[in-house]
Amino acid sequence: MIYFDNASMSFPKPVEVIQGVQSLMENSSGNAMRTTSTEKTDIVFETRKKIAKLFNVKFPTSIVFTSNSTESLNTIIEGYLKPGDHVVSSAIEHNSVVRPLVRLHKERNIALSWVPVNEFGLINPNDVIEAITEKTTLVIINHASNVTGTIQDVESIGEQLQAYPDVKFLIDASQTAGHIPIDNQRIKADFIAFTGHKALLGISGVGGYYINPEIKIRPLKVGGTGVLSELLVQPEGMPLHYESGTALMSRLWTGFFGTERYRTPKIFQNPDFSLKRRDFWVFLQVEQGRALPVSSV
Ligand SMILES: Cc1ncc(COP(=O)(O)O)c(C=O)c1O
Repeated sequence: MIYFDNASMSFPKPVEVIQGVQSLMENSSGNAMRTTSTEKTDIVFETRKKIAKLFNVKFPTSIVFTSNSTESLNTIIEGYLKPGDHVVSSAIEHNSVVRPLVRLHKERNIALSWVPVNEFGLINPNDVIEAITEKTTLVIINHASNVTGTIQDVESIGEQLQAYPDVKFLIDASQTAGHIPIDNQRIKADFIAFTGHKALLGISGVGGYYINPEIKIRPLKVGGTGVLSELLVQPEGMPLHYESGTALMSRLWTGFFGTERYRTPKIFQNPDFSLKRRDFWVFLQVEQGRALPVSSV
């Protein structure tokens, strides 16, 4: 079987993921961070540690799990932006970024600037910096496009943003997490949104985000923590502050395996893979080392 649409959802899943989910269904019940069972808690925490290592960030507690990248992006965009803020984003964003932004433009008077891309779908990092105004609080960049596979120079954008401490940086790593290295010591992003069902090789209904521990945003959901129930307000501790409600237990198998199974570098270095797809557009970019060899809409 030939399955080309691996960028919208990876398939087949590794046997470890299938067996892991099955074993959880058969042998476990309960919530991480709530029960006394260290087995469950530890597996979730292990996954946090692996994702933190994958992104080269210091604290596993700064990794928050969600249901998918769309939920992560909505949480960050909704939770961070205040009325009158200005956002710089690009012409090549996924609708999981575009729609929350356009809604906030209407509802909270958020001003939006869309930086253009060139014929390869590449953003010029200088255009991002030039679009910043004194009201800019957030820059959002799609690390790799789901349509063209183009990988953006997020390191250069992150580096230049260091001169603007009030401007936070969100990268949408939905297409890249698990595919290509994401070293946040170099990118210096304040938020990294990721999904589990693509290159992290997990099941669907799994995602998350990294949040700079120095930043607090308004959680999308509150309550349902199952601990500290005497509090009338959401507990402040991380990651509980942002993880409300009973989670999909099997979400933890994402990353647990995906982070350790780098497959792309080999394919990535082999432009033939793209040639066989007869997809000249993507091939051109892969040859120049700046696109993933897969794309989806
Ligand atoms: C760049 C990008 N952002 C966001 C998403 C949304 O991801 P999810 O399906 O996990 O919500 C996708 C999915 O294709 C994507 O490619």
